[in-house]
Amino acid sequence: MANDVSALPVDPFSPPADSALWRKDFLLGAATAAYQIEGAVNEDGRLPSIWDTFSATPGKVLAGDTGAVACDHYHRWESDLDLLSALNVDGYRLSIAWPRVMDAAGRPNQKGLDFYKRLLGRLKEKGLKTFVTLYHWDLPQHLEDRGGWLNRDIVYRFGDYADLMSRELAGQVDAWATLNEPWCSAYLGYGNGHHAPGLANGRFATQAMHHLLLAHGSAIPVLRANDPASKKGIVANVGRGTANSDSEADRRAAHLFEVQHNAWILDPLFKGAYPEDLFELWPGTDPLVLEGDMRKIAEPLDFLGINYYFRTNVKSDGAHGFVEVPLAGVERTQMGWEVYPDGLRDLLIGFNRTYAGLPPIYITENGMASDDQVIDGRVDDPQRISFLRRHLAAVDAAIKAGVDIRGYFVWSLMDNFEWAFGYERRFGVVHIDYDTQKRTLKHSAELIAKFLAERNARS
Ligand code: FCB
Repeated sequence: MANDVSALPVDPFSPPADSALWRKDFLLGAATAAYQIEGAVNEDGRLPSIWDTFSATPGKVLAGDTGAVACDHYHRWESDLDLLSALNVDGYRLSIAWPRVMDAAGRPNQKGLDFYKRLLGRLKEKGLKTFVTLYHWDLPQHLEDRGGWLNRDIVYRFGDYADLMSRELAGQVDAWATLNEPWCSAYLGYGNGHHAPGLANGRFATQAMHHLLLAHGSAIPVLRANDPASKKGIVANVGRGTANSDSEADRRAAHLFEVQHNAWILDPLFKGAYPEDLFELWPGTDPLVLEGDMRKIAEPLDFLGINYYFRTNVKSDGAHGFVEVPLAGVERTQMGWEVYPDGLRDLLIGFNRTYAGLPPIYITENGMASDDQVIDGRVDDPQRISFLRRHLAAVDAAIKAGVDIRGYFVWSLMDNFEWAFGYERRFGVVHIDYDTQKRTLKHSAELIAKFLAERNARS
């Protein structure tokens, strides 16, 4: 029944009275990322990024789409920020395009810096909390030409970038995230080649991950020194793996799935070591780790950002790994991803149990793609409304079970360039007409606005 949402009820976006979502200090926001919305890739001294190169390579992105124009947010940012006001949200998560703010010699690019200063200034005027991600996948191409995340030198280059940004933007940022989803950068970028820079080698994936995590851990003290009042953290995507049968082999397969998707990142961050099972799954791929690296990676954090989308049902591959067994008859989104809110609740409760000293959590991304159309000026997106309501209920259940969760950002504020899937997959609560750049609030956006107006009117 993929994409058959006609049978779904249109649930009002209204949590039960005892839900944490009614609390004003539970932050509800919307998220975007630079390459997915900004466009203006050649303007004001911006350098090429690995996604410009990758998307210009035939066959890499659906329909040959690129981020060259995207949502033209670089020019329309003021009215786009008004969309946040229309939604009544408390906060906005955005990312900075590294290639916009530094030249190839590492010198600041004032025009690029000014763009983000204006943007953050306006967000503050609107009273919104600002969550800023330093690296949401758009590595400057000149750094990839020198090995990118495979070259240990990147740790120092990222440190310089974090230093510049936190000096320039100190006081304008409520929460800094070093990286968005290092799993995707390492595995999809260097392990299977589905994302930029498009390399496919298991050993590359683990080495890239090590340098990503080291760059993250090394940047935290820099951010802390330059902008002491802000929170510092990282954003990880997590996946729920469930076993296709109760057999020991299948349960082990589900465990290994979660090792590969979650523990690969969370164990180094919160236990200071890579999970041993990882190298059972991928024998001979151990990265080069130098003395002191793991201690730096495990630098204490003020928050952990969690991005959650779906679950994967797996069975044993008969050897040391797992293979996916797609479930029939389950609800799926335009991406083909299963809608499985229990996975979010179960993972949050599990992480809270597994990792002592876990910092407060923000759900930094959650949402879904659907083939939304404007009809008579309106966009009905009943599946998204139901999806959001059920995932927010899962977050609430995790809070009730004792997990310290402080906020939730819907992915995404607006339809945008969905990486290897281009513009076809629509994740926004605001619809974009890419021919005219017209923005239209979807029904989900209207219900979020209505709920937040009601919440804000209370007390
Ligand atoms: C996440 C990315 C985000 C968006 C969503 C759908 O993996 O962080 O940029 O593409 O998936």
